[in-house]
Formats: sequence, C-alpha cells, structure tokens
Amino acid sequence: MPKLGVNIDHVATLRQARGEKDPCPVEAAKICLKAGADSIVAHLREDRRHINDTDVKNLRKTVTKRFNLEMSLNKDILAVALKIKPDEATLVPEKRQELTTEGGLDVIKHFSRITRATRMLQDQGIAVSLFIDPVKKQIQKAYATGARVIELHTGNYDLAPTPKRCAMQLAKIEKMTHYAQSLGLIVNAGHGLKYHNTRAIAKIPGIEELNIGHSIICRAIFVGLKQAVSEMKNLIRG
Ligand code: PXP
Repeated sequence: MPKLGVNIDHVATLRQARGEKDPCPVEAAKICLKAGADSIVAHLREDRRHINDTDVKNLRKTVTKRFNLEMSLNKDILAVALKIKPDEATLVPEKRQELTTEGGLDVIKHFSRITRATRMLQDQGIAVSLFIDPVKKQIQKAYATGARVIELHTGNYDLAPTPKRCAMQLAKIEKMTHYAQSLGLIVNAGHGLKYHNTRAIAKIPGIEELNIGHSIICRAIFVGLKQAVSEMKNLIRG
C-alpha cells in the first residue's frame, strides 16, 4: 500500500488571501500527521506565493515524520534547502505565471544543473526525488543524475478527457513504474490526484508514496482536515 504525503501549500494560500496568520500550515501539518499522513510536503516557491521561509523552518522543527520540501533549481531556494535540511527534496520545474506545477522536470535538457543540485542535497543527507513525466528517456536520465527517487507526474491522467485516454495514461504510469523499479529507483506519484481517481493509481504495484494536496484541502473545507486526510488514507488502503 502506498504511503500518503499531504501537501499543505493551499493552507498557506488561504492564509495569504488575507495576509494574516490564519490558517497556520504548521498546525495543519500536525493534524495531517495525526490523521495518518506519512509525510508532509510543502513547496517553497521562488515568488513565495503560499509557503514562506518561516513556514519551512517551523515545519522542519515540527514535522515528526518525513518533511518533503518541493523546490525548483533556483540557487536561493537551494541555499534554503541546504540550511533547513528537509528529509527529502523534490525537484520540480517552476514558471512564474503558472497556477500550479505544469509538467515534470526536463531532466534531459537540464541534466547538469539537476545532477549538481542532487549531489549538493545528497551530500547534506537529504534524499532527492525528481518530479518527472512518465517517459522512459526522462526516467533513464533521472537515474543517471544519481537521484534515487522519482515522482511520476499524474497530471495527464487526471486531465484525460475520456475514460479511454484516462486508461491509457494509467497504463503508461504503471509501465513506467515497473521500468523505473527495474533500474532500482523508488517511485512516488502525484499531482491532480482526487478522491475519485486515486484508488487506481494506489493499486499500481510498487508505488511507494502518493503526494496529494489540493483535493484534500478542498475536502477539508467541508468535513475538516482530519477526516479529509483519513478518507484519503482509507481510499489508498482500499
Ligand atoms: N507533487 C508535486 C511534485 C507537486 O508539484 C504537487 C503540487 O504542488 C503535488 C504533488 C500535489 O498536487 P495536487 O495539489 O494537485 O494534489
């Protein structure tokens, strides 16, 4: 059964809507962990549009399970990560105008920069995960960087316009999971996973962890965060 990493960025998005203190992402993280989350994920974006440097510092101190920092290759963000030392760093592409992470890292194009950042993080004892599309060439290159974890982008699966295309995306994720595992990589998955489409991904043998944010925080508005997390956890469990 895959583990559940809960991304709490959108707790901070709500806080930023008023520019005040509530709701507090660190308090949210504590509730998620109590409700069964296996790790807490937060994305420190270059524009600090939701999670900020203080959140990251406080999360590092508070998160009793694994703290996974999502980050771009920006040198200032890298410096923060090296100082804070999360348990895991997930490298993602970042564009200023995007609403959320669009597509995986292009490891082929940015191979040297990704390899350098991976080494610097690993030298500090931080496990490195690369967020990539489920594409064989990207997986091969990801392996060559020295990273030992990948997170397969499930966005195209989520956005597939027809059940047939959705099934094709699912099959692709399954095939690429097996391939990456055959290289010895640990495989996570995430992005756009919702209560109606997570189970099929969770059933893929060998997926280690699912990282889910937006749908859990949305559901929390109606049923509370504790219940939203435990519903997702149960769903993963089947
Ligand atoms: N994994 C990665 C690498 C992401 O960038 C995000 C979004 O921040 C997620 C998972 C979670 O995506 P969602 O909020 O759509 O569940």
